[in-house]
This record gives sequence, C-alpha cells and structure tokens, in this order.
Amino acid sequence: MKLILVAGARPNFMKIAPIIRALKAQGLKLKAMKNLEYLLVHTGQHYDYEMSKVFFEDLDIPVPDYFLGAGSGSHAEQTAKIMKGFEKVCVKEEPDIVVVVGDVNSTLACSVTAKKMNIEVAHVEAGLRSNDMTMPEEVNRIVTDAIADYLFVTEKSGVDNLLKEGKPEEKVHFVGHVMIDNLLYQVNELKKEDVSRFKSDILKKELGRYAFLTLHRPSNVDIKESFTGIAEALNEVSEEVPIIFPMHPRTRKMMDEFKIKLNKGVHILDPLGFRESLFLWKDAVMVMTDSGGLQEETTALGVPCITIRENTERPITIEMGTNILAGNKKEDILRCYREILSNPKKGKIPPLWDGKAAERIIDILMKRQNMRR
Ligand code: UD1
Repeated sequence: MKLILVAGARPNFMKIAPIIRALKAQGLKLKAMKNLEYLLVHTGQHYDYEMSKVFFEDLDIPVPDYFLGAGSGSHAEQTAKIMKGFEKVCVKEEPDIVVVVGDVNSTLACSVTAKKMNIEVAHVEAGLRSNDMTMPEEVNRIVTDAIADYLFVTEKSGVDNLLKEGKPEEKVHFVGHVMIDNLLYQVNELKKEDVSRFKSDILKKELGRYAFLTLHRPSNVDIKESFTGIAEALNEVSEEVPIIFPMHPRTRKMMDEFKIKLNKGVHILDPLGFRESLFLWKDAVMVMTDSGGLQEETTALGVPCITIRENTERPITIEMGTNILAGNKKEDILRCYREILSNPKKGKIPPLWDGKAAERIIDILMKRQNMRR
C-alpha cells in the first residue's frame, strides 16, 4: 500500500505527526516497509519558519518528500497552485490512497486532484460542520467529505452529519482524534524539555496568572468593526488578567491596517511553535481563541476555553468539554470572561480521545487494502 500524506498549513502538522508515528510503528510490525510505503507532501500553503518549519522540528515530522511551494494568494490562486503541483506528484508516484487532514485549502485541493485521477481519498477529521458557508473551511470540509472514500471522524456529531448527508455507513469510521494523539504525546515530551530555551519562559514566570489568546479568523480580524470590538474586550480583560497573545501574520497585517491599539497588558509575541505554545496555554487561567484545534486541545487538558466565534463545528467541546461559545461582540466576550473567571468550566474527555486514533486509522486502511488484493 502506497500512501501520500498531505500537509500544508499550520493546523495540519499536528495531525500528520501522529499518523507518521503510527505508520512507522506499523512498518516495524511488518518487519520491513515493503507492504507499506508512504510519502509526505508539503504544499507550502504556510511557509514562514514560525508557521511551518518549527512544527516539523517540534513534532518530529520528517523532511517532506515533496514541497510544492504554493504560498499565499486568493483562495482560487492558492488552491489552483496546490492542485497543479500535486497532480504532478500523483502522476509520478501513483499512490493507492491520498490522506488529507483537517479543512484548509490544501485539504480541498489535494482531495479533488486525487479523486479526479481515480485515487482513493482518506479524510482525517471528517464530518465536522459549522453550518456557516461564509467560512472557507466549511466549504473545504463539505467538498472533501463529498468525494472521500474513507471518512475518519473525531466526534459523534461528525458521524451524525455524514449519515444525514447520505454518506454510506461503511465509509464512516469513528476513530477519535489524531490531534489529541499528538497533544498527549507532546505533553510528555514537554516534561523532558529545557523550557528555559523558550523566549516566553521569563514572561510566564513574571505574569504567573494569565490568559492565553489566539485570533486569526477572517470573520474576526478582516472586518474593522469586529476586530475593534474584540480588541476593546481584550483591553478590558487585560486590566485584570494579563493576556499572552502570539499573533498570526494575518492578524498583525490587519491590526496595522485598522490601526488597532492593544494595551500593554496584552503581551504580543510572534507566532509560536507547538511546544512553546503548549507550555503557555496548558497553565493559563483560560484560553481565548477562534482556532478550531485549541477548542479541542483545551477540552483534552481541562483548561477553560472561550471561543470568539458565533458557531463551532466541534460541539463536543461545549457539550462535554471546557469550551463556551462567546460570539465576537465585546459585551458577550466580557460576559463569558467573567463567567469563566468566577466559575471555570469543568469537562470530561470525549470518547476515543485517548491517543490511539492514528493507530485505528492505519489498521482500517491496511485491512481494506488487504481485502482488495
Ligand atoms: C489558514 C487556514 C485556516 C487555519 C489557518 C491557521 C484556509 C482556508 N485557512 O488560514 O483554516 O486556521 O491557516 O493558521 O486554508 N502568511 C504569512 N506566512 C505564512 C502563511 C501566511 O505571512 O507562512 C500570511 C500571508 O500574508 C497570507 C495570510 O497570512 O496572505 C493568510 O494565510 P492563508 O494561508 O491564506 O490563511 P490563514 O489565515 O493562515
């Protein structure tokens, strides 16, 4: 079985790392890698050191076999560049299965390219739906799931959504969450780490008690009115609880453009690698975020989380986990902040978020391929 694994943007890297670890383990079980071959393709959707390479170092991801160098651009430009590059790789390598993760433009571009070449597609993190078609990721999720042959699902809502959409049951596999595999692995790795190498080590000690923030969604930062309201809320929060804010390049660009000012209680950092970010948020009083992944990771470690969005495609984090949905209006964010401060939300670990999702995925792929032979 020959697999091509696709990674392109920051949130993909943590999902690919455990799949590669599970593949290596499976290869060892088979004594030789003869029956199982995999290649890693990096589309280059993200390319800055802080947005890409640092994750390869932190997460022990091997150097990609192919780097497509797609870079930034409009959605159409970026998607087209990835498709053109990826088609050439598929022609040359003739994989049995292309494995895509998450919901970024690289996920969509590579799944469509593969499927049109009659190559099977496996989608890891299938079935999530925000039901918000203004979100580019929602379009990516729906299109990828519509054509994928293997739908690997992280939470029950994903199974329900896919079956409601008429996907055949035999394609849908509830396996848990590879991103949580990665998180649990990295929590252990962090224990062995010399944290004094992190630039934020001193800041963390100085602040003691702090909130951790990430913010980059176009619906929050590309609209002046929304970004201004969020910034006002953050400034108020930071008067009581300082905020550590590693800033995404999109956010920095829009903050300059809109001339938004954040108080000195909001400590702005460059984007962080996985491990340094974990080092900070795991001990935060609360996390405030519009990221998909952090909503889940905070639930897995029991850290209260305020999601600065109107909706979430990951409802298990609210039903079972530590997440609350604030919307992006100033007063709503402040209300949720006060609520969490006085009564931090406690949660439970969602089913199958146990660190073994990647193993389940590889088992399923191997069994199916063996049946075909
Ligand atoms: C993408 C994903 C989003 C994910 C996010 C995580 C899509 C549609 N969106 O959004 O789901 O949550 O990544 O970061 O795929 N830039 C750099 N350096 C980089 C990459 C980007 O400076 O290495 C800047 C560029 O100015 C670019 C902007 O950030 O125009 C946005 O990058 P892009 O990949 O288009 O979207 P993200 O907002 O990162």
